[in-house]
Amino acid sequence: MFPDGENFVLDRENLREAIPFGAGIHACPGAPLARLMLVITLEELLAATADFSVAGEILMARCAEWGTRSVPLAFVPQDATPSA
Ligand code: HEM
Repeated sequence: MFPDGENFVLDRENLREAIPFGAGIHACPGAPLARLMLVITLEELLAATADFSVAGEILMARCAEWGTRSVPLAFVPQDATPSA
């Protein structure tokens, strides 16, 4: 499904075929709520953030469908004054 499945890629063309919420009859019924919570969380975070970058090694979970285990990020707050 994902030839480079060990890599963290947010804009895969076939991202919708990923199965973080399971599939079939036991697919997660909480997925819409979980997605909404994630969207709101990211909206609030980005509204308060001027910039961010990956700040360390991205570690994948043991099983690919569990996604990442660790994504270290560094955030610059909106009101941060630049250091000299
Ligand atoms: C990021 C958040 C979430 C992830 C990654 C997730 C992931 C999953 C996955 C992979 C399954 C399928 C397990 C299997 O194959 O047997 C599942 C099932 C389930 N999830 Fe979630 N889930 C999340 C949030 C939620 C929320 C917010 C709720 C409820 C409000 C919820 C309720 C359930 C229930 C009741 C099942 C069992 C469905 C069944 O066996 O028919 N989940 N979830």
